[in-house]
Amino acid sequence: MDAHYASLLGTRYGGLASNTIDYWMLPDDPTMTAEAVLAAFEGAPVLPAATLSLYVHVPFCAQRCRFCAFSGGNSPDTTLADRYATLLVAQLHDLMRRCPMQGHPIRAVNIGGGSPDLLGPRIGKVLAAVRGLPGFGADTEFAVEFTLSTVRPPFLDALAEHGVTKVSFGVQSTDRDVRGYMRQPRSLEHLDRALAWMDGRFPIVNADLITGMPGQSLASVEEDLERLMATPGINAISSYLLTPGAAPSLLAATAAGKIPPQPDTLTQALMRLATIGGFRRARWVRRGTNTYVDPTRVGERELSRMAGHECIGASHYEAFLLGVGPQAVTSVPGARIENVVDVAAWCDLVEQGALPWFTPKCATVHQRDMALWTFPLRWEGLPAARMADMIAAGACTDAQLATLAALELEGLVHARGGGYTLSLLGEVFMGQLVRDLKGESSRRVIDDYIAEGRALAASVAQGRATDEYRINDRQRLVVHDD
Ligand SMILES: C[S@@+](CC[C@H](N)C(=O)[O-])C[C@H]1O[C@@H](n2cnc3c(N)ncnc32)[C@H](O)[C@@H]1O
Ligand code: SF4
Repeated sequence: MDAHYASLLGTRYGGLASNTIDYWMLPDDPTMTAEAVLAAFEGAPVLPAATLSLYVHVPFCAQRCRFCAFSGGNSPDTTLADRYATLLVAQLHDLMRRCPMQGHPIRAVNIGGGSPDLLGPRIGKVLAAVRGLPGFGADTEFAVEFTLSTVRPPFLDALAEHGVTKVSFGVQSTDRDVRGYMRQPRSLEHLDRALAWMDGRFPIVNADLITGMPGQSLASVEEDLERLMATPGINAISSYLLTPGAAPSLLAATAAGKIPPQPDTLTQALMRLATIGGFRRARWVRRGTNTYVDPTRVGERELSRMAGHECIGASHYEAFLLGVGPQAVTSVPGARIENVVDVAAWCDLVEQGALPWFTPKCATVHQRDMALWTFPLRWEGLPAARMADMIAAGACTDAQLATLAALELEGLVHARGGGYTLSLLGEVFMGQLVRDLKGESSRRVIDDYIAEGRALAASVAQGRATDEYRINDRQRLVVHDD
């Protein structure tokens, strides 16, 4: 945080959140056993507000974007791809078979990465398996990510054939220099090419942007947004706040002076304000944690199908989110389960019929206050009925409720009809709001994680560790701080 900005934009905050990706972490428990985790998963209560969603991870990628927070298990080696697609289906069926919500309607399926497009037409096998699950239907959101530089027509054909309802890909920035600093292809020719290939075949076409990256200016961020909003063929945009706490590679490059520093904190806040204000002025509507949609180019049916799950985290305590594939996380009432990150290790375990879980980072904890701290991430806010249920269940501490009341007084949160939504300023500081609304111990976990990221970055910057995908794999963490 820059010392001279004690309070940014008149708020209680002196900076933006350093990590907005790993909100759902809990303290590590080295004594955790696979049996205890399995019992918590199979015994998870199906409560009246239960929902069921799936996240399916594809850990192959041919790029090494400096900011990428998902690269820990990514591999450029797709020789495993055939075996991988088969095993993904095996874990999907195994998790579903054990899940107490099996057979309930599936709200959303997100297939993300990495670069799922590197599976090529093999993706058809995964899509067919997903569509064949009990509970998959016409109202299920079916979303798939890909990378612009590596996607090819046979992959897109498979998505169209299997009725995928939303595709999404990263642009991050349209500025050639910023793209270069991030180790992305400098040219945007891949975007034009992919849009031509898609040719109106998918109801939602979503492009990702990031604000707060080294080399960006307020003007360049405004230009990114205007350019994408005006691009025919794109009708949804996710604008993420760069979370350096989850990207040691980026921190290492800035520390070593290889790329410019991040913009100062005031500029970062103004970038969020310009972006969210830009969406609101253009009357785009929020339909995800960081996602806005143009309602003039998206039908009512498609809008209502969007679950707003792009942040790969569960929305509330009662929700079942099944994470399939290495690095994916499962969250059900009373359990948080991390899959093994290492792709080869994950494949071996699934092939052996073993649970591919990394138990030291799993937890069997009931996070009953989840609706409270996930509410800033939810486009629908926190409805009055859910708030009343939480209070009746004694799920929130007095301190948490006092924080919510203070945030309302300070204009970061609006209270309407007893329910809560974020103000424009609240959305700018969304990650900080999540942090503030959490209990003390879960706040500490995030802080430790960020400190770990900084220590990893220092190791890389000083040449004591190598800047490779694995730097993001905290399951095999070795911080070289001697
Ligand atoms: C996991 S990536 C996969 C998409 C695909 N591989 C691509 O890059 O086009 C999904 C999105 O997460 C966002 N993302 C990745 N790392 C991030 C970070 N450290 N901070 C903020 N957003 C990040 C990027 O906008 C990216 O497009
Ligand atoms: S952001 Fe996407 S393309 Fe870039 S390294 Fe991460 S997964 Fe690969």
